[in-house]
Amino acid sequence: MQTMIDGILSRHSVRKFTGESVKEADLNLILRAGMAAPSAMNIQPWAFLVVTDKAILNNLCRALPYAKMLDKAGAAIIVCGDSKEGNWVVDCAAATENILLAAHALGYGAVWTAVYKYESRIEPVRRECKIPEDMIPLNVIPIGIPSDKNSKAMDKYREDRIHVNVWQ
Ligand SMILES: Cc1cc2nc3c(=O)[nH]c(=O)nc-3n(C[C@H](O)[C@H](O)[C@H](O)COP(=O)(O)O)c2cc1C
Repeated sequence: MQTMIDGILSRHSVRKFTGESVKEADLNLILRAGMAAPSAMNIQPWAFLVVTDKAILNNLCRALPYAKMLDKAGAAIIVCGDSKEGNWVVDCAAATENILLAAHALGYGAVWTAVYKYESRIEPVRRECKIPEDMIPLNVIPIGIPSDKNSKAMDKYREDRIHVNVWQ
């Protein structure tokens, strides 16, 4: 990856993994990237739950209908927001994008799988990972070595989504 822009433009959701684990040093760097995200008034209303235990990954896989890739992920990061802070969703979303980009930059694949605002997903994730009541899991991000080396990003550039000076 040559530049940051290349990294941003080539990032894409990866849903098929080899099952290999994620190096601890890489996980730390990915978490550091998450925490480097901007947040309103720099409150940083987040906490990151790192799951490497296969039994927990499998239980989450069973509980989450749109995260079935978890059983082959090397690890997962659950981005949790402090519900007492009004901007927790947008701040945690910024942290999530940084995590996705960092995972991609290090050669891993990852995907944002939704938890919030579905009570049917929040509750089992909270129970499985013992997340305290005031923290809300925004998503689960499975991370792993991509098994399909040919998967690539879509070109989502749309000129009609751009307005210059005044809405046209
Ligand atoms: C808020 C949000 C929720 C998402 N939830 C899921 C999900 O539950 N499962 C999944 O496989 N992908 C999920 N995605 C990933 C999107 O499907 C994906 O980002 C979109 O199709 C664009 O593809 P790309 O990430 O490869 O650019 C989610 C993305 C966002 C931003």
